[in-house]
Amino acid sequence: MTPLKEIPENRIFDLIEKLDVRGPRYTSYPTVPVWKNDFPAGQYIDSLRRISSNGKPVAVYVHLPYCKSRCLYCGCNSCISREDTKFRAYIDAFKQEIDLVSRFLENGLTHCQLHLGGGTPTHTPSDMLAELLDYLIERIPGSGSPDRSIEVDPRVTTVEHLKLLSSRGFRRISAGLQDLNPDVQKAVNRRFSAGDMKKFVDSAREHGFTGVNIDLIYGLPLQNRKTWAATMEQVLSFNPDRLACFGYAHLPSKIVHQRGIREEDLPSPGERLGMLLDANRFFLDNGFEAIGMDHFAKPDDELSKAFRDGKLWRNFMGYTPNGGLELLGLGCSSISEFQDLFAQNLFPPEPYQEKLSAGLLPVTRGCALDRDDIIRKHLINHLMCNLEIKIPRSDNTADAETIESITEALNGFGKLEDEGLLIRESDGYRITPLGQLFLRNLAMPFDRYLSAESAAAFSRTV
Ligand SMILES: C[S@@+](CC[C@H](N)C(=O)[O-])C[C@H]1O[C@@H](n2cnc3c(N)ncnc32)[C@H](O)[C@@H]1O
Ligand code: SF4
Repeated sequence: MTPLKEIPENRIFDLIEKLDVRGPRYTSYPTVPVWKNDFPAGQYIDSLRRISSNGKPVAVYVHLPYCKSRCLYCGCNSCISREDTKFRAYIDAFKQEIDLVSRFLENGLTHCQLHLGGGTPTHTPSDMLAELLDYLIERIPGSGSPDRSIEVDPRVTTVEHLKLLSSRGFRRISAGLQDLNPDVQKAVNRRFSAGDMKKFVDSAREHGFTGVNIDLIYGLPLQNRKTWAATMEQVLSFNPDRLACFGYAHLPSKIVHQRGIREEDLPSPGERLGMLLDANRFFLDNGFEAIGMDHFAKPDDELSKAFRDGKLWRNFMGYTPNGGLELLGLGCSSISEFQDLFAQNLFPPEPYQEKLSAGLLPVTRGCALDRDDIIRKHLINHLMCNLEIKIPRSDNTADAETIESITEALNGFGKLEDEGLLIRESDGYRITPLGQLFLRNLAMPFDRYLSAESAAAFSRTV
């Protein structure tokens, strides 16, 4: 398969122009717009009972929404707060949620994975974060040596935070950086120097973090290939184990604070593509492997190993080597992903807290998956993670219609095969390095809910 760096840029650019559409990122299938509001809590409760009775450890995601200041590009479920009273109210509600959920975990529950995300979990004062963690771990204890990880904003993360997290068994840390150029940083209201980032990464390592991820974004205002190259050089000198390199999703019609970004400052589509290709070239040349749509990892990282074994999986916490785990989401806006069900909590914190103080579960919307959904979900996830499309096999006649419809979608892939995005194999297709740029486009034909109209609400696929 031809490596991306050997394909002329103008050919890739022509392809992007041809395939330029909007579409989902497929962090879930069915995608969130398909889910139902006022989802019945009964179905969520049934899943809680089931995961407790089957005795298997689960993954737990905890959402902590608060940040110190607003980054103008931010598309996360976050809110700004500098008041201790807000943290107090949130932690009290979070404890109520655990108590309420625990009522349905009649045979108890353990976790083998715990991830804290946000917002900025380390914007919470370290004593309150300790209180939250200890309350959770006492009620849903770790099984074996659980994998515990956290997303942090290095600008607000203190040595006390690192000590606390390390003492509670956290070994992986993911730090947002985005870009190091001062003009870009000013344009997005997020300033942080390379020197301070280096100090932060070194301090994390000193405190026992063996897996360090850094988040970058390309496509931000005032970025260009030259500034981006300088950022990447500096990032490499921090010696991260993993990198996430997200394309900026600009949706000012939905995300009001993104209107603070001047459209005329955004890089042109050609410049944006150039940055994506430069990142691919630069990180692969410097010892990383490309993982899924937007990640890079060192070859000995477990994500790379899982990718080589065809076992990589992706959920709302990101890429994971442990596919097939049931995921319990706690905190406002968090999503639980069970075998045949998605359920999401209320956002922002206030309605989440109100529901809990009334003694009610804060679940607001969700989706129960039928067999067709489950087959397509696995196909799309395998495509996005392991770069293969496998025609599903099943002895169950109930699946015949689904398999027929998937095979029909595959029959439409001839043109993309000619363009070099895929290579036909006996039981499906393998995605080429060129096709890896278009994973969202390749997944869309398998989405039975997607129409041209509904796709328009999503960001650009490349
Ligand atoms: C919860 S934040 C990370 C932790 C912390 N709050 C921070 O910013 O340092 C998750 C990541 O999502 C990415 N992100 C946020 N908004 C985005 C957008 N509009 N487009 C692309 N990536 C985005 C950023 O890379 C960010 O680091
Ligand atoms: S990027 Fe991180 S720190 Fe900035 S507003 Fe979003 S969640 Fe908060």
